[in-house]
Amino acid sequence: MIASLASIKAAAIAVPVLLAGRGIAAESTYKLDSHDAIIESAKTLAFDLMSLYNGNETGEIPGVLGYPPPSGPYYWWEGGALMSTMIDYWHLTGDDTYNDVVTQGIQHQVGPNNDFMTPNWTAAASNDDQCMWGLAALLAAEKGFPDPPKDQPQWLELAKAVWDDLASPDRHDDKCGGGLRWQIPLFNVGYDYKNSLPNACFFNLGARLAKLTGDKKYADASSETWDWLTGVGLLDTKTWAVYDGGHVDENCTDINKAQFSIVNAYLVQGAAYMYNFTKESDEWKQRITNLNDATLKTFFPNDIAFEAACEKSDHCTTDMLAFKGLAHRWLADTTQVASFTAEKLTPVLRKSTEAAVKQCTGGDSGRECGFFWSEGEFKETEAEGTVGQQMNVLAAVEGLLIADGVVGGGNGDGETDDGGSSGSSNEGGSTPTGTTTAPSGSPTSGAGRIGMEAVVVAVGLGAVGLLAL
Ligand SMILES: *[C@@H]1O[C@H](CO)[C@@H](O)[C@H](O)[C@H]1NC(C)=O
Ligand SMILES: *[C@@H]1O[C@H](CO)[C@@H](O)[C@H](O)[C@H]1NC(C)=O
Ligand SMILES: *[C@@H]1O[C@H](CO)[C@@H](O)[C@H](O)[C@H]1NC(C)=O
Ligand SMILES: *[C@@H]1O[C@H](CO)[C@@H](O)[C@H](O)[C@H]1NC(C)=O
Repeated sequence: MIASLASIKAAAIAVPVLLAGRGIAAESTYKLDSHDAIIESAKTLAFDLMSLYNGNETGEIPGVLGYPPPSGPYYWWEGGALMSTMIDYWHLTGDDTYNDVVTQGIQHQVGPNNDFMTPNWTAAASNDDQCMWGLAALLAAEKGFPDPPKDQPQWLELAKAVWDDLASPDRHDDKCGGGLRWQIPLFNVGYDYKNSLPNACFFNLGARLAKLTGDKKYADASSETWDWLTGVGLLDTKTWAVYDGGHVDENCTDINKAQFSIVNAYLVQGAAYMYNFTKESDEWKQRITNLNDATLKTFFPNDIAFEAACEKSDHCTTDMLAFKGLAHRWLADTTQVASFTAEKLTPVLRKSTEAAVKQCTGGDSGRECGFFWSEGEFKETEAEGTVGQQMNVLAAVEGLLIADGVVGGGNGDGETDDGGSSGSSNEGGSTPTGTTTAPSGSPTSGAGRIGMEAVVVAVGLGAVGLLAL
C-alpha cells in the first residue's frame, strides 16, 4: 500500500491531535455514567448535529437541510425531524442555545395556510412528510416550548391544522376501506399506494392531540385508523408485524411486507397516549404490550437499535438512516405516558444508547457517529449524508434523561397558548399540483432511489421509472 505524501502529512498532523484529545484512539468521547455526563454528551452531540444545519445563515432556507435530491441528500421531512429532536433536547437538558434557531426553522416552513403545506416542497410531499412537521409543532405545544411571537402561528394551532388536513375526506378517500394515501399530489408515484407510515403518523398525532386538548374527536379518529390498519392487514394482530403498504387498484391486498422502525414507534407511542387518554383501558394496554414486544424483537435484536429492512445489507437510504433516533425518542416518551412499559423499555433503550455512543469515533473530530450500532465501531454507510447518524445518537442520549424530571418547559398540560394568528384554513391544502416530481420522505421512496432492497422493490420500481422521465 503506497500512501501519498499528502496523506502521510495529514496522518502526521492528525495523530497527535487524536492522542492529545482522547487518549486512546477509537475510544468514544461520550460518557453516560452519570446525569451530568449524559448532559455533557448530549451537548456535544447537539453541537455537532447543529453544525450540519445552516438554515439560519444568510441566504439559506430556515428549517430545511438544503435542497432535496438530486441537489442534496435530505428530503423536506428530515428538517422537521431535526427540529423536534432539538425541542426534546431543550426539554430534557434545559439547554436553550438552539431554541431561536428551531423556532425560526419551524415558522419558516408553515406555508400560506399555516398547515405545513409549503409551496416549495409540496410538489414532492407525502402525507407523512406534512405529518412529521405537524408533530414538531405538537411537541413544542406538549412540552411548553417558548411560544412564537404573537404575530406568528402558535404551536398547537399548527398541529391542529395539519390534523384537519389529514382527516379531511380529500385525503381520506374510501379506497381500500379508508386510510391515507402515501402521496398527496395526484400524479406522484405513490399516490395509488396506501401505506402504514402516514397512517401511523396520523394515528400518533390524533392520540397526542386527544390527550393534550381533551377533545375526543381526535381519539375517535385514531381508533378508526387503528381499525383500518388491522382490517386491511398492514398491522397483523397475530404476529404484531407492521407492513409497509398496498396499492388501491388491488384494494390494498398486494401487501409489501417491508417493516420500518419509525412506523412501529409511531404506533407504540400513539397507543400509549390512547391508553393514557382512555384512563388506562385494558384494550390499549394489551395492544401496547403486544406491539412493543414485537417492536423490540424486530428492531432491537440484542437490545440494540437495528433498521431491520436495510441495515444488514447497508442498503438503507438517507431517509432510513434517520429512523432509529425517532424510534428511540418515541419509545422513551412511551415510558412516561404508559408507565408500565418502562420496565421493559428502559433497560433496552439504555443498552442501545451505550452501543450507539461506542461507535462515535469517526471523522476528523474522532467523534463522528455512524449508523451501525451493533458492530461496535464506526463505519461509513453507502447512502449519503450524516445528519441521520448524528441525530440518532443525540436522540438516544437525550432520551436517557427522560425520567430525571423536567428541566425545560412545562408538563404538556394543554395550557399552552392557543391564541396567535393561526387560521388553520384547509383550503388549498390538498390541491393536486400535477407535478411529476419524484415522491419524497418515505421508506418506500427511499427504496426507489437505491432500488436494491428486494422487499421494497415493488414500489421502488415505479419511482425509478418516473425518475427516468
Ligand atoms: C446559526 O446557529 C448556530 C447554532 O446552531 C450559531 O452558532 C450561529 O451563530 C447561527 N448563525 C447565525 C447567522 O445566526
Ligand atoms: C422557497 O424557495 C425560495 C427560493 O429558494 C426560498 O427563498 C424560500 O425561503 C423557500 N421557502 C421555504 C418555505 O422553504
Ligand atoms: C377492500 O378492502 C377493504 C378493507 O380491507 C374491505 O373492507 C373491503 O371489503 C374490500 N372490498 C372488496 C371489494 O374486496
Ligand atoms: C399519563 O400521562 C401522564 C403524563 O402526561 C403521566 O404522569 C401518567 O403517569 C400517565 N399515566 C400512566 C398510567 O402511565
